[in-house]
Amino acid sequence: MVEKLIKTFYETFGEGGHVRTYFAPGRVNLIGEHTDYNGGHVFPCALTLGTYGIVRDREDRMLRLYSVNIDSVGVVDVSLDEIVATTEASWTNYPKGVVWAFEKRGFKLTHGLDILIYGDIPNGSGLSSSASLEVLTGVILKDTFGFDVSMVDIALIGQDAENNFNGCNCGIMDQFASAMGKKDNAIFLDTNTLNYTYAPVKLPDAKIVITNSKVKHSLVNSAYNDRRNECETALKELQSVVDIKTLGDLTEEQFEEHKDTIKNEIRQKRAKHAVYENQRAINAVEALKANDIEKFGKLMNASHESLRYDYEVSCEEIDILVDLAQAMPGVIGSRITGGGFGGCTVSIVKNDAVDAFVREIGKAYLEKVGHEAEFYVVDIGDGAGKLD
Ligand code: GLA
Repeated sequence: MVEKLIKTFYETFGEGGHVRTYFAPGRVNLIGEHTDYNGGHVFPCALTLGTYGIVRDREDRMLRLYSVNIDSVGVVDVSLDEIVATTEASWTNYPKGVVWAFEKRGFKLTHGLDILIYGDIPNGSGLSSSASLEVLTGVILKDTFGFDVSMVDIALIGQDAENNFNGCNCGIMDQFASAMGKKDNAIFLDTNTLNYTYAPVKLPDAKIVITNSKVKHSLVNSAYNDRRNECETALKELQSVVDIKTLGDLTEEQFEEHKDTIKNEIRQKRAKHAVYENQRAINAVEALKANDIEKFGKLMNASHESLRYDYEVSCEEIDILVDLAQAMPGVIGSRITGGGFGGCTVSIVKNDAVDAFVREIGKAYLEKVGHEAEFYVVDIGDGAGKLD
């Protein structure tokens, strides 16, 4: 596949010169949802699906960007002296944002680049295609210009680009998973301190199955920001009675003791999710380490319940998928994954139940919703880097 991309690169940008190839993965979060901007824990893993970049140096100060996926936009020319976000710039605002975030930190690009991009993460699926593009740009720039930054810095730079150049107020989880992923491991990340450990995901008789609802409801961004604001307000209310910096600092018991200081029922439900989901993530990692996969699955189911009723970031199509999955024999756990309002579910399914899962849920979903779902039986891959 990479060879084909290199061929397309030469057809698009002209023959000659040395090209380099890079890759940054998408992610799936196993548990710990909507906790990363609440100082809680997350437990994502990098996928083997992701975004590829083929790169060649230029002598001038132009970035020439082309996406195989968005061929209709063609090659986009960007001067390094005019890095601003525009609506016409479409997908190129992501790499441009990363250039902007590097330059802001004093890392200057001394020449231009030709860059071809190709991604195999399904569009709009909530598996972090934009974060992978940001992290990919980060590794390209680090390698090309010798910038002295760590992979964690690259994640933070990607998040800065997303928050302050592209205007989406996301947490650190997606970029961190793409930059720091490790084959066959999930990352147990404390988003308050950025301390992390890897936990092997050994599933001798089960698979991780992602189901794409193929819907993405338009309120994603505004509702995401509403949730953030509700949690911030709830935190302030709690801080009047308890000494905490984030909702992630609270145990369930402490929350129950002080919850009445949150003067609104909706905010109380949001904060409850943030606190309980953080504890669920911590407990799930312990269960996994103890090889108690059944317990892990129950925590995934409880996570969905909380995201559905307390945090209210699910939607009808996703609930149909999760209800079908949780009712099937051989399904250890199933929940929505990512930002919500559509996108994907993640399920742990016994090997001998995977075929029936895909067949039966596929059929029932089509009947109930009117369009097909997609299923990906996934492997956990490594984080971003240069390919040989
Ligand atoms: C999106 C954001 C992440 C995280 C998840 C919810 O994917 O980009 O930072 O908040 O939603 O867990």
